[in-house]
This record gives sequence, structure tokens and C-alpha cells, in this order.
Amino acid sequence: MSRLRIFEEEHPDAPVTVANTHAEIARALAPVGVAFEQWEAAQPVVAGDAPEAIMAAYKADIDRLVEARGFRTVDVVSIAPDNPKREEMRAKFLEEHFHKEDEVRFFVAGSGLFTLHVDGRVYELLCEAGDLVAVPDGMTHWFDMGPEPSFVAIRFFTEPDGWVGHFTGKDIAQKFPRYEVGQARE
Ligand SMILES: [Fe+2]
Repeated sequence: MSRLRIFEEEHPDAPVTVANTHAEIARALAPVGVAFEQWEAAQPVVAGDAPEAIMAAYKADIDRLVEARGFRTVDVVSIAPDNPKREEMRAKFLEEHFHKEDEVRFFVAGSGLFTLHVDGRVYELLCEAGDLVAVPDGMTHWFDMGPEPSFVAIRFFTEPDGWVGHFTGKDIAQKFPRYEVGQARE
């Protein structure tokens, strides 16, 4: 189940707020400029389907988002728990960073943990299948796919080189919960 926990940045051990419904999560994220939506497939898709079939199932929502936000590229990324490069892939965005364009992801299947650091608070967002999250450009955050990663996600890009991680060099991500063994399994 999708979940949002909000922490004061100095207190990683005790969240000040926990939201467990989609509506509560969206309401809590809106003031910091993060969009959180649920999309439904027009026809059933499963992990392993061709990217074209996955994108066709969500065409109406994809087109709406591309039109509204001016994205130029949309793709589908998949990772399974037995991927030989999973450790390297997991490590890539585990520390605090930002991008010069919005980071927009729709989870077709599986799950992942986005943690956002904004205005002295830390927003830990567990995304599940059906969730769309849009992290604004410049917002510091990190992403954990867990040690046994499992997801299929649609990604949206504005510039060919826009989705580069600019790392802050801070160790804040290490103080907050990671996505643990087993959590990413469906
Ligand atoms: Fe990122």
C-alpha cells in the first residue's frame, strides 16, 4: 500500500505524520509542489509486456501529462530482483541529489521509495503500482529501489541530458530508512 511519512530533518526515528490513503498523501504533498496521482490502465498489462503495450494502456494519462508539462521523451524501465546489476543500479541515486528537470515516474508494477528533502522536512513516499509522482526540478531527494528491486515504471523527460543527478554531498539519506529486503517484492 502506498504510504507517506513526514519527518523533521533532525528526527529520522519518529515521523510527525503518516498518510496511508492516496487522497491524504496527495494533500500532504501538494503544498511542496509534488504531484501524486493514481492512473488506471485502459487494458490489463503485466511486467514483461512490451513497452509499447504498456504505454498504450496509459495513453490518455501520458498524453495529458506530456501536453501539460512539455515532456519530449517517454520511456519504460523495468528491473527484476535477479538483475545482475541491481546493486549498482540501486546505489546510483541513494544519496541526496537534485535534477534540473522534473523527475516524473509512473509505477506500472512493483514499488520504490522516493524520499524528498524540502523546507527542513523529509517526505518518505512509498510508491506502488498505479502511482504517479512528479518531483519538481531542483528539489533535493533520493530514491531507493531496495536490495531485491522489482518495478516497471514509465519515465518522462524534457531534455536529453536533463536527468542528470547533481549530488549535494550531504549524508542525510543515510540517516533515514532504506527500502529493506523483501519490501520491493510484489
Ligand atoms: Fe532523482
